[in-house]
Amino acid sequence: MKALVHEQKSGIDGLQIKDVQSQKMKEHEVKISIKYVGLNHRDLINIEGHKDLSKTLYMGEDAAGIVIETGSGVTSIKIGDKVMINGGLNWNKNSAAPPEQFEVIGNTRIGSFAEEIVYPAESVVNVPSYLTMEEAGAFSLGGLTAYRALFTQGQVNKGMKILIPGIGGGVANFLLSFAKAAGAFVYVTSRSEDKLNKAKLSGADKTALNDEDWNDIFGEKVDVVIESVGAATFNKSLATLKPGGTMVLFGSSTGNLVEFNLRNFFVQQYTLKGSMMGSQEELVDMIAFSEKHLIKPLIDTVYPFEDYKKAFERLTEAKQTGKIVLKIAD
Ligand SMILES: NC(=O)c1ccc[n+]([C@@H]2O[C@H](COP(=O)([O-])OP(=O)(O)OC[C@H]3O[C@@H](n4cnc5c(N)ncnc54)[C@H](OP(=O)(O)O)[C@@H]3O)[C@@H](O)[C@H]2O)c1
Repeated sequence: MKALVHEQKSGIDGLQIKDVQSQKMKEHEVKISIKYVGLNHRDLINIEGHKDLSKTLYMGEDAAGIVIETGSGVTSIKIGDKVMINGGLNWNKNSAAPPEQFEVIGNTRIGSFAEEIVYPAESVVNVPSYLTMEEAGAFSLGGLTAYRALFTQGQVNKGMKILIPGIGGGVANFLLSFAKAAGAFVYVTSRSEDKLNKAKLSGADKTALNDEDWNDIFGEKVDVVIESVGAATFNKSLATLKPGGTMVLFGSSTGNLVEFNLRNFFVQQYTLKGSMMGSQEELVDMIAFSEKHLIKPLIDTVYPFEDYKKAFERLTEAKQTGKIVLKIAD
């Protein structure tokens, strides 16, 4: 079967579709024929971090497809089911942090950018009927990350004011949809006027360009910032928080290192929380919440599998608003 791998060359040039060995199934696993997969910023980080290019790096964490085989111990899923996968394994119950055995697929384990995947049944969920397969393939990782950051870590609820910097991002768009559905006031920023206009159409209450004065434009401070742009916006994000406010941090696209004023931080009595993906329990809750509010991933572009390079170039250049998708099969 064919899978997208990274090897031999650094950067996007090292990506190629290759024939790889089909995986053997175990008792509690299912085999999925993959139809659509969504790209995540993580895919770029994985490529960047791949230093021993003689070894194969498998790509992809998100997918939707049809179950074509089930192990003898599987009762929750049947052949023919439309399913989406949780790219994180071994984190079932919600907890303050993932257990030690937690792992994200891809890397040395076959990733989701492939014609087939063998997967633990406990890490698979049925696609709700209001979603297309294209939408389902781009949902799990971004939706789950947004759900945990916003609700588990940020404790966002009705009437709260929240800020989402870098609204063009895939996860950021889930954050906007979820926060609006929860009845929050949502302020967003971007480097692009066009992305801000799209965010307004998706319900953003106030918008600002990254290089504008956010406090001036928003006219008030916020209860929670959900930050993922990283070094480029971290201090501006902190400066928009109300005293006693919380920043939830789940990404650092523009750099891991920042300098910030400790005295200001403790005087303002801020809270800073990290967040990463989420448990299977939160994934199930996220899908139920999304189904109730009919929330769908915002699809930016869909490319045929063989046009993976174009898809990765678009992600690298951060041209997207929402999710970039690869169609693996009909
Ligand atoms: N902790 C986790 O479990 C988890 C899960 C998923 C993702 N992440 C991380 O969260 C971040 C977002 O992920 P994603 O998949 O949503 O990414 P994405 O779709 O690539 O979006 C990243 C967004 O960041 C902003 N950005 C990128 N480069 C920038 C720059 N030079 N200056 C200012 N803003 C810039 C852009 O927003 P504008 O174009 O609107 O300015 C861009 O749309 C990534 O760092 C990713 O690694 C973490």
